[in-house]
Amino acid sequence: MKVVKGPVVATGASGYVGSWLVMKLLENGYTVRATVRDPKDQGKTKPLLDLRGADERLTIWKADLNDEGSFDNAINGCTGVFHVATPMDFESKDPENEVIKPTVNGVLSIMKSCKKAGTVKRVIFTSSAGTVNVQEEQMPEYDEDSWSDIDFCRRVKMTGWMYFVSKTLAEKAAWEFAKDNDIQLISIIPTLVVGPFITTSMPPSMITALSLITGNDSHYSILKQIQLVHLDDLCIAHIFLFENQEASGRYICSSFDATIWDLARLMKDRYPQYAIPQEFEDIDEKIKPVRFSSKKLMDLGFNYQYTIEEMFDEGIRSCTEKKLLPIHTQELFYIDDKIDLGGRKKNLINEMMRGQSEQLSMYTVEKMFGEQIRSCTESKLLPLQTQELFYINDKIDLGGSKMNSIKEMMRGQTEQLSTAFH
Ligand SMILES: NC(=O)c1ccc[n+]([C@@H]2O[C@H](COP(=O)([O-])OP(=O)(O)OC[C@H]3O[C@@H](n4cnc5c(N)ncnc54)[C@H](OP(=O)(O)O)[C@@H]3O)[C@@H](O)[C@H]2O)c1
Repeated sequence: MKVVKGPVVATGASGYVGSWLVMKLLENGYTVRATVRDPKDQGKTKPLLDLRGADERLTIWKADLNDEGSFDNAINGCTGVFHVATPMDFESKDPENEVIKPTVNGVLSIMKSCKKAGTVKRVIFTSSAGTVNVQEEQMPEYDEDSWSDIDFCRRVKMTGWMYFVSKTLAEKAAWEFAKDNDIQLISIIPTLVVGPFITTSMPPSMITALSLITGNDSHYSILKQIQLVHLDDLCIAHIFLFENQEASGRYICSSFDATIWDLARLMKDRYPQYAIPQEFEDIDEKIKPVRFSSKKLMDLGFNYQYTIEEMFDEGIRSCTEKKLLPIHTQELFYIDDKIDLGGRKKNLINEMMRGQSEQLSMYTVEKMFGEQIRSCTESKLLPLQTQELFYINDKIDLGGSKMNSIKEMMRGQTEQLSTAFH
């Protein structure tokens, strides 16, 4: 007979890591209480409810890091809590209130709920490499003893600074609370998580991981000296740390170190269908990878199962299957010089590209559109793959007015294409 374990809580269950963790917990026989901010949002809950075992062992609970006490009900009576949720908005206009405060207050609210419940044996906090090595000078290797320099983050305000500050302050607050209140806490420190996913939108870390494909160059500074881990390895490690009685303290979970130059070469060889840049003007070609040591986790008996190739193969497959990434980008470029679209249409395209920028980079969309127009005008044929343009329609919610702009722009294109054809 299969042993039923738990119940355990997984926060941030509709996110990239959270949803995969829920799947692994169900696979491992756990009864799971998944918390989301809006249980009515079927786009986010359906992938969870469709999971094998969900009918019998998954329930969805409403909770928000901004609402003190809102995790009480979900946590009451549980044996474990996997605290995964975190605000991930790198573009926030109010980072202190939208990112930092909810992350820190949220973890404390969850720890207080655990104390009230009195049934929670262990809390696993999903921390981040951003709590370890965001410092003025990079060391060749990092372990669990290192902490990021918050003053440096606040001063330099590099891409994602508010996230690094939020996670560092939250983890430190969690340790203090755990110590003062005798709660068993373990933190797991993933580096950049890459791999397949069951969510419907582009995961934040995949935007970074695939930025060499999408041309989203604001993320290149993160890839400069990067460490990565496969999503499945990470979620298995969460459960491993929950179950292993010897586990204590912080654990780095990372299986591969690379520079942006290494990644660019690897991706160019492996994915010839994509235009991968091979030059990075502002990044010294001689930089060395910065290593994140998983020794502590591996000494406890954990083994990684996935290679870097599997991380990207499977991540890219999920993205293309969900039509979040074009199937190729080679030779796709320029919209500006070749064709006079007139001021208004050009503005519509620009507007659309801006709307896309969160999901796909402006650059990629520009490249996609550039190809359609170029193929058509240069060869005087109808575009070969207009259906790629329709990626945008059902998969990504652009909101009514942007959608209309795209349609209008496409109609404009069609007129222009027919003129060229005749
Ligand atoms: N992915 C990586 O590369 C990576 C690397 C290191 C560490 N991590 C850590 O892994 C965890 C999950 O990240 P992810 O990549 O899965 O990101 P994600 O896909 O953006 O998921 C984040 C989740 O947090 C939830 N959330 C955001 N604000 C919230 C709030 N105010 N109250 C309650 N829930 C809130 C979101 O819930 P809704 O669905 O309700 O919006 C979402 O499900 C985070 O703790 C992150 O720091 C991730």
